[in-house]
Amino acid sequence: MAHAIRFHETGGPEVLKWEEVPVGEPGPGQIRVRNSAVGLNYIDTYHRSGLYKVPLPSGIGLEGAGTVTAVGPDVAGIKVGDRVGYGSGPLGAYSTERLTAADRCIVLPDGLSDETAAAIMLKGMTARYLLRRTYRVGAGETILVHAAAGGVGLIMCQWAKHLGATVIGTVGSDEKAALAKAHGCDHPIVYTRENFTARVKEITGGKGVPVVYDSVGKDTFMGSLDCLQPLGTMVTFGNASGPVTGLDTGVLAAKGSLFLTRPTLMTYTAKRSDLEETAKDLFDVVLRGAVRIEIAQRYALKDAAQAHRDLESRKTTGSTLLMP
Ligand SMILES: NC(=O)c1ccc[n+]([C@@H]2O[C@H](COP(=O)([O-])OP(=O)(O)OC[C@H]3O[C@@H](n4cnc5c(N)ncnc54)[C@H](OP(=O)(O)O)[C@@H]3O)[C@@H](O)[C@H]2O)c1
Repeated sequence: MAHAIRFHETGGPEVLKWEEVPVGEPGPGQIRVRNSAVGLNYIDTYHRSGLYKVPLPSGIGLEGAGTVTAVGPDVAGIKVGDRVGYGSGPLGAYSTERLTAADRCIVLPDGLSDETAAAIMLKGMTARYLLRRTYRVGAGETILVHAAAGGVGLIMCQWAKHLGATVIGTVGSDEKAALAKAHGCDHPIVYTRENFTARVKEITGGKGVPVVYDSVGKDTFMGSLDCLQPLGTMVTFGNASGPVTGLDTGVLAAKGSLFLTRPTLMTYTAKRSDLEETAKDLFDVVLRGAVRIEIAQRYALKDAAQAHRDLESRKTTGSTLLMP
């Protein structure tokens, strides 16, 4: 019998339960995957807490990798025994074995381990669409990335550096500053004690940056707008400190005709061709060594609640795996 982490009510980490689950045979368009590693993501905490609504009871988790154990009707390009990775749903990655949508899975190339895939399918594809599509970062530009020592953050710093950008990054401690610096962040700012807006102005000689990637949300949003050049792009893509609400759009005019976007990976990979192109680009930078993946924490899958506690109390860095 397979096992999975499920929740029947929203709330704190304690609502996550380790349960025996029947998996069954894949239906049309589905495959069955035996997971070898599962990725932990901040969005999992939003599903669990109810910030992002899902029908209950529910499985949880969007990112993982493993081996295909059965293939349903109407599936092309994937066979039993293939290694696959996935990072854009449907929910249910926190499981030993599961059914999932074949068209959301990517067959993994040789040389990319299941563990690395489980650490990057969601976080790395996010870094890719943010840096290459939401705002196309160019060589010689200076950009600001919040939570630079986190899962998405460490990948973004290295990738932006690889593109020739200068990276300013915010972090919660001196240890995280050192880690970010070792992963391409030229100017780490410890925003728990320094005013990051003033520091960004100082580092850029008063000019500000053309783009801010802000996944912290409520606590940094207004300060981030003040880091932008006129016509700059504010990318608010997460809520680690709480969601941004009640924006008066006149503020965007007053601060220099700013652009504001609230993107999600789901939109940017909704088309199969976009999913494939995003994954291909990601695998390429990882396999060439331009982006190194730090799996800084591993937990037994059944201890997912503890992993959530650590993620939400800012104890983790880089990518975290849950091991089935
Ligand atoms: N829109 C999308 O497509 C998309 C896709 C993937 C991820 N995301 C978002 O990107 C962010 C990063 O995701 P991740 O999984 O890689 O997580 P993570 O960055 O590893 O963890 C979140 C980090 O946010 C920082 N943070 C600042 N204020 C916080 C607070 N009040 N409580 C908790 N953490 C706080 C902490 O770093 P410091 O201690 O250094 O401040 C913490 O380590 C999340 O907001 C997530 O929702 C969005």
